Amino acid sequence: MEPFRYHVFICDQKKPEGIPCCAARGSAMTIDALRKEVAARGLMDEVQITLCGSLGACERGPNLVVYPEGVWYSGVRPEDVREIVESHFVQGRVVERLVTRDAAALRAEIQSNRAKMLAAQRAKDAAGILPDDLNQTLRGYQESRVLLTALELDAFTAVGGGATAAEVAQKISTGARATEMLLNALAAMGLLAREGGVFRNTPTTARYFTEGSKDNARPGLIHIANIWHRWATLTDCVRAGTAVSRQESVERGEAWTRAFIAAMHRIAAERAPLVVEAVGVERVERLLDVGGGSAAYSIAFARASEKLHATVLDLPNVLPIAQDHINEAGLAARVETRAGDLRHDRLGVGFNLVLVSAICHMLSPEENQDLLRRCWEGLAPEGRLVIQDFILESDKTAPKHAALFALNMLVGTEAGSTYSGEEYAAWMHEAGFQEVRQIRLPGLSSLMVGVRG
Ligand SMILES: C[S@@+](CC[C@H](N)C(=O)[O-])C[C@H]1O[C@@H](n2cnc3c(N)ncnc32)[C@H](O)[C@@H]1O
Ligand code: FES
Repeated sequence: MEPFRYHVFICDQKKPEGIPCCAARGSAMTIDALRKEVAARGLMDEVQITLCGSLGACERGPNLVVYPEGVWYSGVRPEDVREIVESHFVQGRVVERLVTRDAAALRAEIQSNRAKMLAAQRAKDAAGILPDDLNQTLRGYQESRVLLTALELDAFTAVGGGATAAEVAQKISTGARATEMLLNALAAMGLLAREGGVFRNTPTTARYFTEGSKDNARPGLIHIANIWHRWATLTDCVRAGTAVSRQESVERGEAWTRAFIAAMHRIAAERAPLVVEAVGVERVERLLDVGGGSAAYSIAFARASEKLHATVLDLPNVLPIAQDHINEAGLAARVETRAGDLRHDRLGVGFNLVLVSAICHMLSPEENQDLLRRCWEGLAPEGRLVIQDFILESDKTAPKHAALFALNMLVGTEAGSTYSGEEYAAWMHEAGFQEVRQIRLPGLSSLMVGVRG
């Protein structure tokens, strides 16, 4: 059976530094070009592209094999892709200049490469050298730091459509020598291209990291750079049992708060429709959005029902940011902001829905129990509490992002953490909620829902 006319297996294998592989020879650009060309020619239903591991001709990559014929193409550059698509996939004529025809020689090449790789693995193992993936994890912070620094300096915007290191350095007021080192490292990581002395953005960095692009994610990503400094204190925090350089957000500067709320908004704006759909707006006329941040969830709920009025409760320095988003959405008549302290204040009464999104991880178990009791008091009979957070499985070792986020809270808060579904359920029952259940959503966070009986 063959559901496609052609099935292309294209290697994107990345091997350790210095060992020939398709990734090091530019397979990412070839794959991107192939996908785009196949889509542009309207061939997506006829040509299936599947990424695969090493095909064995690693020194001659990027390699791909086309079935049903079993044609092996090697050294395929982005500029070759159009010819392959036109000639092979449209006209059925193989592009001979890129094909490996000698099956016996190819088999010998694959066997020889496999033997070399196995011998290298055995030698490493015998010498007791750290496995590559462990090494990569140990040094992972270097690449992360390079990218964060480039974002902090807005280097991708300065590179724009093409610039030398000296031009970039002048634009962003940095040292020319150091800037070239930074741009070279970004190019080595595949985040810039270098031709002669000119650096250019890749399609991805131009889209997500440059000013003026509609998908520029930089304002939200600066928050990750901001919390880098806290993560550097992790060892001391583990020793001390809590954050060692604590600063509540109200004491942090305006720029910090803006970056933090922008980061939250980016995630919230994407997730809000999913949450609204899972929760529903039937019989919801009053929503309380506890620690509502940018108001993205209140806005999404208000958009889903004209009868719905929402209150965004947050710290005074955050409310102007929320108000801007509310005004921009044209919902000032139905979404209001209220300054308050979610750790201590009474939350009001008579709400049909109380949303506590990305809040519980800031708090200790005792603080969460107290907050959930006040949420219960704030609800009308039959009203619902919806908690959204990174929720751990019962042994707390999965999902990985939730286990790591517990440490993010350790380094940044007095007593925050991530919690398991069982812990949430126990607190909710203790606060008086009924029909408590977890709703798993696609993506990183899920919901806990309970009803005030
Ligand atoms: C992680 S953000 C979540 C924002 C929003 N709920 C969301 O899911 O996108 C936490 C929010 O809680 C607010 N917050 C922190 N401490 C607070 C307090 N004591 N009282 C009220 N709001 C607080 C922060 O300003 C921020 O907007
Ligand atoms: S890494 Fe692609 S063929 Fe070996």
